[in-house]
Amino acid sequence: MILMSNVDFDADSFIESKLNEIREALGEGRALIAVSGGVDSTTCALLTRKAIGKNLLCVFIDTGLMRKGEPENVKRSLAKPPLKLPLKIIRARRSFMSKVRGLTDAEDKRKAFREAFYSTLAIVAEKEGCNWLIQGTIAPDLIETRGGVKTQHNVLEQIGIDPKKIYGFKVLEPISTLYKPQVRILSRRLGLPESACERQPFPGPGLLVRCVGEVKPGKLSVLKEVTDIVERAFASSGAQQYFAAVIDNRIADAPGEIVRTLKSTLQLHDEILNVKILQSQATGVRDGSRIYGRMVSILSPPEKSNPQTVLDRAISKSAEFIESNPEYTRLLIETGGARGRKPYSAIIRAVNTEDYMTARPLRVPWTMLRRVSSRILNGNLSLSTVYYDLTPKPPATIEFE
Ligand code: XMP
Repeated sequence: MILMSNVDFDADSFIESKLNEIREALGEGRALIAVSGGVDSTTCALLTRKAIGKNLLCVFIDTGLMRKGEPENVKRSLAKPPLKLPLKIIRARRSFMSKVRGLTDAEDKRKAFREAFYSTLAIVAEKEGCNWLIQGTIAPDLIETRGGVKTQHNVLEQIGIDPKKIYGFKVLEPISTLYKPQVRILSRRLGLPESACERQPFPGPGLLVRCVGEVKPGKLSVLKEVTDIVERAFASSGAQQYFAAVIDNRIADAPGEIVRTLKSTLQLHDEILNVKILQSQATGVRDGSRIYGRMVSILSPPEKSNPQTVLDRAISKSAEFIESNPEYTRLLIETGGARGRKPYSAIIRAVNTEDYMTARPLRVPWTMLRRVSSRILNGNLSLSTVYYDLTPKPPATIEFE
């Protein structure tokens, strides 16, 4: 695989060489592409349609793990002008829920999702006479899967799965040498509307990786509502990716040693150093590989202690703290709490990043975090606490699973 830098990237010659490559590989064959409405799969669909015209069929699988209104929005943006892609929507909510039910481990959940995803595509491919599957896999998907950071749902051959043998189609990945900024350049060249070119990424397994631990219908509905609130609140924040996760509300007191280490690393005073440990696990990266760890949270600083200073300092010191305490993968700060014990808590994540392989938490006004947290807690959503994630990637990942 030849990786290109942004400066070297010439969208026109890339398009020309890929059109030849796609036509040569597919010949008169029919192809399927699973689209999500995101920039990678849509760009890939536009490129492939340019190459093989009506021999391409786009499929959107409604897994039930998408955001509020997503299937309708995808249908509107892809099937209607200006794109007018040939789109088939497959309703498969029940089968995805039954595959992930009862699973708590992040990799088991990803694996179950992948199996449900490709089995669904295999049925459609057979029915529609498609012997090729086109995928919008990009360079970081391959690099991070191979490096052991995560098993991306759309990576098959690289982890020893022969798609032809198991699912009956061959896979072609025309944009797998590109990074996100290059995909965005390419998408503009192929006529994707500006708002879609700059759309923030959404993981293939959808809310599965943000519904931390076991996915239950009630927990998933809460996540959909919180996601909606957070996406609206952060839309003009300047972050490249922003979202919410929901965790089971199980907490423990922090061991004295962690409190002492945090206190010295973050240079905090006694009165604001209430610390708790969240029992849910979140993924992180250590030496290029994926690890799991619990999350540490400092409680909401009192107004008199200048919360903005505490927040900024905690953001700048979080990597140092996590790197020297490898059983933990995240440092959080509590940004709001409700009265009484509720089953779930929410975490807000907002990051700045160029390539999504490294990321920095967005430096946000404390008042904004308080406002968004109140909005979430006032929504009557069975949530005890709202946290903000202070950890860069590495040592954390962007997603929670
Ligand atoms: P992580 O969590 O690995 O995420 O730091 C890096 C970027 O990749 C997105 N992501 C995924 N995208 N399928 C996808 O298509 C996946 O399985 C997947 N997992 C993470 C994530 O949202 C971020 O932009």
